[in-house]
Amino acid sequence: MSRKTLSFVCQNCGAAYTRWQGKCESCGEWNTLAEEASDAPVGKGAAKLPGRARMIDLQPLSGVTDEAPRLATSLSEFDRVTGGGLVRGSVILVGGDPGIGKSTLLVQVAAALARLKQRTVYISGEEAVAQVRLRAERLALTDAAVELASETSVEDIVATLSQGELPRLVVIDSIQTMWTSSVESAPGTVTQVRASAQMLIRFAKRTGACVILVGHVTKDGQIAGPRVVEHMVDAVMSFEGEGSHQFRILRAVKNRFGPTDEIGVFEMTGLGLREVTNPSELFLSERDLGSPGTAVFAGIEGTRPVLVEIQALVAPTSLGTPRRAVVGWDPSRLSMLIAVLEAHCGVRLGTHDVYLNVAGGLRINEPAADLAAAAALVSSLAGAPLPADAVYFGEVSLSGALRPVAQAPARLKEAAKLGFARAFLPDPGRADMPADAGLTLGAHGNLASLVADIAARGNRNRLLREA
Ligand code: TYD
Ligand code: MG
Repeated sequence: MSRKTLSFVCQNCGAAYTRWQGKCESCGEWNTLAEEASDAPVGKGAAKLPGRARMIDLQPLSGVTDEAPRLATSLSEFDRVTGGGLVRGSVILVGGDPGIGKSTLLVQVAAALARLKQRTVYISGEEAVAQVRLRAERLALTDAAVELASETSVEDIVATLSQGELPRLVVIDSIQTMWTSSVESAPGTVTQVRASAQMLIRFAKRTGACVILVGHVTKDGQIAGPRVVEHMVDAVMSFEGEGSHQFRILRAVKNRFGPTDEIGVFEMTGLGLREVTNPSELFLSERDLGSPGTAVFAGIEGTRPVLVEIQALVAPTSLGTPRRAVVGWDPSRLSMLIAVLEAHCGVRLGTHDVYLNVAGGLRINEPAADLAAAAALVSSLAGAPLPADAVYFGEVSLSGALRPVAQAPARLKEAAKLGFARAFLPDPGRADMPADAGLTLGAHGNLASLVADIAARGNRNRLLREA
């Protein structure tokens, strides 16, 4: 039997150690270990296995299961991300940078549900009731019957909510401010966050109320502390956006009751978050037509096609090692694309700085964006604007070949709907192309032929000879 329990816990990832050390071996962060009282209530009984145990009923895989009852909030972008509404007894973690608008979003969600005559409670551990009221006034939501409290003790919250009519939705803003007296650590520590979340999750499961936990994100994009909560909750959503843009994107990272990768798009206005039902129109609203270095990518976010502009700037470098900077896309994907352009298409980028930006603050994870990014890069280097009425999509392989991507018909349909006349895409290997797409299709078998096409419109020498 161990004499002493683990008592130094990493505040970033939750790993526990018996001694203090500077660096957490589990996540590699420095100075994140803090001493915590080690009264882990969960593990206590587990050490000594009791002689008697209850038999479990094992069930077959097949059987009748009720569809999880959902509660739509009437905020359609939010409902889209949850998979059609809030599921009874589910717990959702909403993460995001400070100031991105999490409290604003959740006050709006709470108010929308209250207007549907569902009991909703909003508990703020960060702001006073007056501050929450002030925000609600600004959002013109004061008529909604949301019940407010400024409170941080989980025991008090659970006891209060368990009385009378059970709430359908409880918003906890934020989980890092909550504390329970069942563990001794300070509020905000991993142990506290974990224990508080556990209590609120138990409350949700017991009563069927939906609980939304707000979590702050650390500098490297992980949900601090609540990282350890992620696996306990039913759904994890991240609320993203560039500080300088008014667009905000709610993305499902994990969802036990719905699809992931689904996004909801909002715009932050003076009167709160406005839903954006057609994101493509928004992302393309400030297009700079006729200048080189921009290509429109026909992407898919979740189940919805989204058109977005990819901007590139390629300029001779004054540094020994040229700069490569990316916003909204994967930097290693850019390096790969540059290597393919150099190796297979004769495009020399070794002495050029390369900047790539996805307009509107959207972050793209699809490999299908390769072709649009390549087109933008080549267009910038050659000084040749791409046709303004064209969209691009397709995956580039290391050999320079273009690979077809999923859901091409949906991408083409969205492009046609927004008035685009041409689409550049990989040769469809299988015949899953609609016969009448409403666009002229320019299919390419490899990247080199697309580069040659663009080069023919611009300064060929600048593109292929300059070294
Ligand atoms: P907030 O919801 O408090 O962010 P979080 O809870 O994620 O920390 O919102 C913060 C920002 O949103 C704040 O800088 C002001 C801005 N904002 C608006 O632009 N319009 C509004 O109607 C509201 C309520 C906030
Ligand atoms: Mg807040």
